[in-house]
Amino acid sequence: MKNLFPTEKFANIRTPFYYYDTRILRQTLEAINAETRQHDNYFVHYAVKANANPKILKIINEYGLGIDCVSGGEIEQVLACGFPANKIVFAGVGKSDWEIELGLDNDIFCFNVESIPELEIINQIAASKGKKATVCFRINPNVGAHTHANITTGLAENKFGIAMEDMERVIRLAQSMDNIAFKGLHFHIGSQILDMDDFIALANRINALQDRLESQGFHPEIINVGGGLGIDYSDPLAHPIPDFKAYFDTYTQYLHLRPGQTVHFELGRAVVGQCGALITRVNYVKQGAAKQFAIVDAGMTDLIRPALYDAHHKTYNLSSDQPAEVYDVVGPICESSDVFDQDILLNRTQRGDLIAMLSAGAYGEIMASGYNCRRLPIGYTSDEL
Ligand code: LLP
Repeated sequence: MKNLFPTEKFANIRTPFYYYDTRILRQTLEAINAETRQHDNYFVHYAVKANANPKILKIINEYGLGIDCVSGGEIEQVLACGFPANKIVFAGVGKSDWEIELGLDNDIFCFNVESIPELEIINQIAASKGKKATVCFRINPNVGAHTHANITTGLAENKFGIAMEDMERVIRLAQSMDNIAFKGLHFHIGSQILDMDDFIALANRINALQDRLESQGFHPEIINVGGGLGIDYSDPLAHPIPDFKAYFDTYTQYLHLRPGQTVHFELGRAVVGQCGALITRVNYVKQGAAKQFAIVDAGMTDLIRPALYDAHHKTYNLSSDQPAEVYDVVGPICESSDVFDQDILLNRTQRGDLIAMLSAGAYGEIMASGYNCRRLPIGYTSDEL
């Protein structure tokens, strides 16, 4: 499919690479802000784990979003890109001491704490620095999301969070600690969620917990509902911008807030997913006994989502308008899971054609690895090409 991308600009760029359409990114950010500006108590923290490319981060920062980090490295990266520390929430089930110190030294907005042992260490380190750490507790709401098993996080069997039943005990403990300021509750039920009923289920769980906590005299100020809004992988051209209205309206309608509470969202995929594509070249077309293979120069090291989650990225041949044929699109890595897609239609392809895999802006470039001593793919924006 020609004309989908400015392929003339790709001619001299080494493939594979990521291409980010900043127009889509900006439209997405505007769509988010158009919804949240109607609520002075809604705050979106971009989940930087989805994409930490500095060029992308700088654009996101222009739109005033906060940040959700899960490592010290992410904190360093977003500070270097100019995000204010007081908009950083820091989650993660196994924070190391240096990461806690980094958060405290920079006076981040909040630690999302996932266990009592972690709370005790944060209290200790904060005491050694004469500081008070602001904390929310990540609660495991035991809500299943209708998404891939590897990316559900809110079930009782997952390693994440603290059980609902333990909340009163844990909050009381936090309130007894000199260097901890308990501020609120944090949840996250999973990723790539398109069924708003899953978010309604979470809102209902939060409401029930709030009723219970209130009756015991606890008044959290922060309600952090996590992220998880999905994108349309099957038809990204028709739906480049996720349905943020439906998403935020769901919480507005179903989440019962107490006076003075702020709601925090940690969106990753929905912010950056649709602006990015992996661009690769066909190295060989091989006729197998039963199949026709397009062997491309990108592999699972560049985009691991198909191998890891059975994900499908809509794939187009940018160099051909010839009649479509059926191909398996595969990479060069010596692993049988190095397959991007099977039995898909592509305009007839030949060696040298440019292939685009869409919806790869989230969990694409950032999850690339150097397995097989391969080079990491570079990410370019439409602004710089
Ligand atoms: N907050 C927490 C606590 C999370 O664990 C995550 C994602 C997010 C926010 C952002 O979720 P999002 O809005 O992007 O759904 N690598 C997988 C996705 C892993 C998501 C992990 N946690 C993929 O490629 O599908």
